[in-house]
Amino acid sequence: MKITVIGAGYVGLVSAVCFAKLGHQVVCVEKDKNKLKKLQQKQVPIFEPDLEKLLNETITSKKISFTDDITKAIEDSLAVFLAVGTPQDKDGNADLSFVFAAVEEIAKNAKNDLVIVTKSTVPVGTGEKISAIVAKANQNLNFSIVSNPEFLREGFAIVDFMKPDRIVVGVADEKAQKIMGEIYQPLQNQGAKILFCDVKTAELIKYAANSFLATKICFINEMADLCEKIGGDIKKLSLGIGLDSRIGEKFLNPGPGFGGSCFPKDISALLYTARENDVELSVVNSVIKSNDKRKILMVEKIRSALGEELAGKKIALLGLAFKANTDDIRYSPAIAIAKELVKNGVLVKASDEEAIENSKFELKEFGNIEFFADFYEAIKGSDLIVIATEWQKYRDIDLQLVSKNTACRKIVDLRNILNEEKVKNLGFEYFSIGKLD
Ligand code: UGA
Repeated sequence: MKITVIGAGYVGLVSAVCFAKLGHQVVCVEKDKNKLKKLQQKQVPIFEPDLEKLLNETITSKKISFTDDITKAIEDSLAVFLAVGTPQDKDGNADLSFVFAAVEEIAKNAKNDLVIVTKSTVPVGTGEKISAIVAKANQNLNFSIVSNPEFLREGFAIVDFMKPDRIVVGVADEKAQKIMGEIYQPLQNQGAKILFCDVKTAELIKYAANSFLATKICFINEMADLCEKIGGDIKKLSLGIGLDSRIGEKFLNPGPGFGGSCFPKDISALLYTARENDVELSVVNSVIKSNDKRKILMVEKIRSALGEELAGKKIALLGLAFKANTDDIRYSPAIAIAKELVKNGVLVKASDEEAIENSKFELKEFGNIEFFADFYEAIKGSDLIVIATEWQKYRDIDLQLVSKNTACRKIVDLRNILNEEKVKNLGFEYFSIGKLD
């Protein structure tokens, strides 16, 4: 089937390439000239495992092409997926100007019946608004609005697309349901479950899923705080509750708080929708508070591990990305911790596998930060090591080498990725999350 994807950002590009891999004929529209040129030359502008390989493969097999011409792209397409950006506006709601602009252009130029699908995360009720824009822009167009939210995780986007836990599709009529069913048939053939519902419920599922996951993280983080006080062990606690299949083992790793481009933005947009509809979401509200407080608590933890004031100290910060396997630093707890440490007079010696360039830009106003490509260099001369992102290289840290090169003997592991016994046996003081040290 011929499919158009509007926007070659994170969700758009991954979806477009994966649809092409599933055998559909895909045209992806990107208005940014530089990005477009790169994509046409088979270069991926973001860091995502396996994406470049798949792009290469699908361009070579002529299953995907890139253009900035919407009119040409939608010719003969049965479905057009909207995957343009929805940044957060000043009120905490999603800014839909890019979505609406794209929809208007599509409506004005469409020559055949169209299913218009929102893939970008859009607030509840957006489907209705899009429908009104299309109807006004082109009264003769036969169209249907669909909501098909994406549940991709950065770093695992291809796997998440190809092996989804579920596919959610909000539809308003049978014809749209049939077309969406055909698009996802190859995944259904491999066992993927598809859930059809109405458009508004599909829009809300996306926000509810992200808010629920964020709630799970805040819950386990607070349990970790309690474990530290009572002398419990959070790893065992996570397992002890997670093995109950009603709770589930995933997303019960405590850490420095959640970040990224999705959870903070989506929770904020959900709260906005709730306020507009006079519904109190007190649980979701407290998730934001708990997560904001978390970064300050982490700095307190570092101070207490040092056993003295922060001012004048040198701290090696391993990890800047909001999680491993990405160069994304949006709402990264590591970045918030770096800023707070600098404000407290610390010289931060920072390193990351992929996010150094983004961090240099974000932290350019903060003088007291040095960046190191090699994290062992960041550790040299430091008073304490903080692990803030769970990169594999930090899991594999050679502490014997660290012992040889530096006098630093304190590790604060905010991701609980090191083996406590091994670390202590090598003569280090070890401070983890959710266990008395
Ligand atoms: C999240 C969702 O997991 C995806 O399903 C969704 O599609 C995506 O948002 C989106 O809305 O686009 P992502 O932001 O890439 O994906 O990252 P996650 O892997 O979910 O992690 C989010 C944050 O939670 C990270 O800061 C991570 O370190 C933290 N986290 C996660 C924990 O602290 N503990 C955990 O057990 C799991």
